[in-house]
Amino acid sequence: MDEKYESLITGIIEEGYGLVDDFLPASFVAQIRTYLLAQKAQSKFKTAGIGQQASQHTTIRNDQILWIESDSEQALEAQYQQALMGFMHYLNRSCYTGLSSAEMHYAFYDVGSFYKMHVDRFKQDSRRQFSAIFYLNENWSDTDGGELLLQLPNGQEIKIAPKAGRFVCFRSHELPHAVLPANRPRLSITCWMLK
Ligand code: OGA
Ligand code: MN
Repeated sequence: MDEKYESLITGIIEEGYGLVDDFLPASFVAQIRTYLLAQKAQSKFKTAGIGQQASQHTTIRNDQILWIESDSEQALEAQYQQALMGFMHYLNRSCYTGLSSAEMHYAFYDVGSFYKMHVDRFKQDSRRQFSAIFYLNENWSDTDGGELLLQLPNGQEIKIAPKAGRFVCFRSHELPHAVLPANRPRLSITCWMLK
């Protein structure tokens, strides 16, 4: 894992974002994807809100989310949290980031769903340090849309396809980003590392 963590950190420092593929094995991705879909089938997802009041503004975003308990006892969620904690501890040791916990949710973007350009930190609450998204979409092709659009510090805009096993990380308060409409359902786990 250290090589992946190192490559994420280098990316964040040098380009404003880190990206690794195969953050976790394909078999794990398939299992947690199936679990997500089962939760969705049981109507556990809710239309996502904006800001700490989570008021709904479906013109800004219209994805559906399900929060994951911290210290989840569900085996797949626990395994994901463990991998994430590994990265957080690595960041703390190598960059003195002082991260203490994480909050995370599943996200389901139905066909046509999007999230307009935004930054992830709340106005009244600066605990969110890093945002990380883990994608669960097998065989995602260029025509499927649904890219993560990043506005990099150098002014460049780049698009990242939400491919299964891909993990993207950036500083929560710095980097404006958006989710472009997808042509097929788009599944992910979004997480924020808190100070
Ligand atoms: C978010 C977000 C990006 C993505 O949930 O805040 O920006 O690619 N997600 O899912
Ligand atoms: Mn975001």
